[in-house]
Amino acid sequence: MSAKLIDGKKIAAEIELELKTKILELDSPPRLSVVQVGEDPASTSYIRAKSNAAERVGIELTHHHLSEDVSKPDLEKLIINLNETENGIIIQLPLPKGLEEALDFIQPENDVDGFHSVNLGNLVQGKSGMKPCTPAGIVEMLYRSGNNPEGKHVVIVGRSTIVGKPLALLLSQKGVDATVTVCHSRTPNIGEYCKQADILVAAVGYPNTITSDMVKPGAVVIDVGVNRTEEGLVGDTSYDVREVAGQLTPVPGGVGPMTVVMLMSNVVAASLKTD
Ligand code: GUN
Repeated sequence: MSAKLIDGKKIAAEIELELKTKILELDSPPRLSVVQVGEDPASTSYIRAKSNAAERVGIELTHHHLSEDVSKPDLEKLIINLNETENGIIIQLPLPKGLEEALDFIQPENDVDGFHSVNLGNLVQGKSGMKPCTPAGIVEMLYRSGNNPEGKHVVIVGRSTIVGKPLALLLSQKGVDATVTVCHSRTPNIGEYCKQADILVAAVGYPNTITSDMVKPGAVVIDVGVNRTEEGLVGDTSYDVREVAGQLTPVPGGVGPMTVVMLMSNVVAASLKTD
């Protein structure tokens, strides 16, 4: 049996249509600034995807491309000015060493990536606020594909600040009500945990980390990996996982488009607050 593919591109297109309708009701288009520091090729490709999505839904996106050796005060000055004019601001990661604190220069209400300490703090406390886009996109994709996580055992492999940790918080909060296990590089016998998952999330960043023997037959597998290999773009799961899983998100075309559309959704939410 081969797993049914969960089409993230199609679900994202549905959400884009909903956003487009909301934007048409606004007095002026929402504004998003994307700040890129240096020449990371993956960042350039992510920004292109965000820019294309913004154009489709009617968000005005400005790309600020700074040199690798920009000083912290200059970066701070730019962000502080953008706080005054923009609905949303993101700083594309990774940032060069020493500049990571710049994320906290963005005002929490403009932080459409949901990375500011205040927004992450709100998430821990179950309060409303901007939610990080990849975890929010995964939760939305589960609901829209008929996989309500309530009462399900979700095993997340990966404990990053932008995916693993916030996803565990979102899924275990009241009203979503999944039971969550987080595994990481120091977890012994990871496969034993993975095999217990109704929903297995691979957010590791290495190809072929999750193999078919680690998956419970019929499980829903969410592959967050974006690994550039000689064979092209691949996720964190090996190809044979589709022989065991019940449903699987493809790479590309699964979680990636959901991340982008949740960013657009956060920009619209930010603009509605100031409209
Ligand atoms: N780099 C990889 N993923 C992301 C993301 O979701 N937002 C930002 N700002 N940078 C990233």
